[in-house]
Amino acid sequence: MIKIGPSLLSADFSKLSEEIKDIEQSGADFLHLDLMDGHFVPNLTFGIPVIEKLRKCSDLPFDAHLMVEHPENYIEGLAKAGVSYVTVHQEACIHLDRVLHQIKEAGMKCGVALNPATPVSSLKNIASFLDMVLIMSVNPGFGGQKFISYTTDKIKEACHMLASAENTHAVVEVDGGINSETAKLAVGAGAVFLVAGSAVFGADDRKTAIAALR
Ligand code: DX5
Ligand code: ZN
Repeated sequence: MIKIGPSLLSADFSKLSEEIKDIEQSGADFLHLDLMDGHFVPNLTFGIPVIEKLRKCSDLPFDAHLMVEHPENYIEGLAKAGVSYVTVHQEACIHLDRVLHQIKEAGMKCGVALNPATPVSSLKNIASFLDMVLIMSVNPGFGGQKFISYTTDKIKEACHMLASAENTHAVVEVDGGINSETAKLAVGAGAVFLVAGSAVFGADDRKTAIAALR
């Protein structure tokens, strides 16, 4: 069952609660929240105080994608704010195993994101523990970029790795450059959570845009 998560990065930041209500009514399955710190990626977005407020505006599950250094500093706050999934970048975590345990102990589901150049094999030893593998199909930091086609092979590899680890509950998510065409490639490779920023928030009719992705 494919799930569509619009990325708030492409919403109109001057009216976030209206934007979230709109995509919820348009059939979104979850809300993807991109946290950027200006260090791990060259861009800044929003943090926990904003997420706490947004939680009151929506019933959608919140999927936090942490493009930050020292993600361990955010975990307690994200749990209190009512986030369901927390995904950290493999490249940002020296102590990845420890961070993932912290996320689970805080009562949330844990994911690891891989930049396009980072191999799936780097997650082999923790594959049975993961709730999500996020394959980045663009270099993180900005919305509206072009889908990098070689990442479809990484989606297949991630599915294979999870199956080999007998992990049947984890999902493979894809993020970056997803539209109705690239969604077919990602789903064909095994992705079940599709993140889409500009393809949803940039559309005049978001209901049609979400249906087209699905
Ligand atoms: C990029 C973010 C994405 C971004 C996707 O660093 O992680 O979630 O919002 O935007 P689109 O769908 O426009 O590529
Ligand atoms: Zn993201």
